[in-house]
Amino acid sequence: MSELKTFIEDLPKAELHVHVEGTLEPELKFALAERNGIALPYTSVEEMRAAYAFDDLPSFLKVYYEGMSVLLTEQDFFDLTYAYLEKARSQNILYAEMFFDPQAHTSRGIAFDTAIKGIRRAQLEAEQELAIRSQLIMCFLRDMSAESAMETLEQSLPYRDWIVGVGLDSDEKGNPPLKFKEVFARARSEGYRLTMHCDVDQDNSVQHIWQTLNDIGVDRIDHGVNALEDDALCAEIKRRGLALTVCPISNSYVTDGLKAGQVKQMLEEGMRVTVNSDDPAYFPGYMAENLLATQKAAKLSKVQILQLSINAFEGSWLPENDKNGYIEQLSEFADAAP
Ligand code: ADE
Ligand code: ZN
Repeated sequence: MSELKTFIEDLPKAELHVHVEGTLEPELKFALAERNGIALPYTSVEEMRAAYAFDDLPSFLKVYYEGMSVLLTEQDFFDLTYAYLEKARSQNILYAEMFFDPQAHTSRGIAFDTAIKGIRRAQLEAEQELAIRSQLIMCFLRDMSAESAMETLEQSLPYRDWIVGVGLDSDEKGNPPLKFKEVFARARSEGYRLTMHCDVDQDNSVQHIWQTLNDIGVDRIDHGVNALEDDALCAEIKRRGLALTVCPISNSYVTDGLKAGQVKQMLEEGMRVTVNSDDPAYFPGYMAENLLATQKAAKLSKVQILQLSINAFEGSWLPENDKNGYIEQLSEFADAAP
């Protein structure tokens, strides 16, 4: 086991599903609250963590949005993003695609520019100082209107070069992919890559995944575990070579279990499945812990763990040349591993 642990820790990794606001650890939340003169309803980090009592998507989202109240200034967004990138690099993550939720900030009076400028500055500084590369994906909140998403898309256009793609997150119940068909068509025409959350074990999960393929034309699927309930759907995802960004520890909080067996099944079926952390400050575990938990539960081999990392680089939104460079690095790592 310890050899596998070392293998997982040392493996060069790419993370494709992490919400930057979901990396806000209680310690930083307290520090930002103090800096901004905001009173929190907790007296200690322990008390705050104890209040993270969620057991489904809506109960998690309530805590997640409340936590953002401490993010006010560009420097706050810088500190948040830099802290994640530092942690990620310590786990040998060489490349990360991070989501951010602009509407969760603009809806409480924080300018789009404030959030994105802080995040961008941290990305550039981390690339220089820590040698971790990253790109940004803007998510629309699916429990807000399609009009609000379209306005947000328009707000993003001056920053087009800082954003690689758009996604869809928040509460899926009653908010199918189809609701955002025009927004995503417009995003595509602006040159953005497209992804959408199809959270695990939601109402109509399978139907929602089909919509992402047939009505939206996504380039990737976030979560998407329920695809395994439909053989034709799996075949189509595989035919299109779409990556699925599964988040095992997150699954164990919002539904039942890690769904590690499903990760293994997808690997065995040759689907481009990846393992990610989602909101690691809330679902405790960054990428290495997610890989370790999945390996342990499903008894993944080193070859399968390596394949997860290959899938992540292949499924990333990097230029082909850069992907190939990272995959070459992975094959050197595998050759040198005991
Ligand atoms: N926003 C942040 N994390 C999320 C998740 N796992 N599902 C939907 N929306 C989210
Ligand atoms: Zn997510």
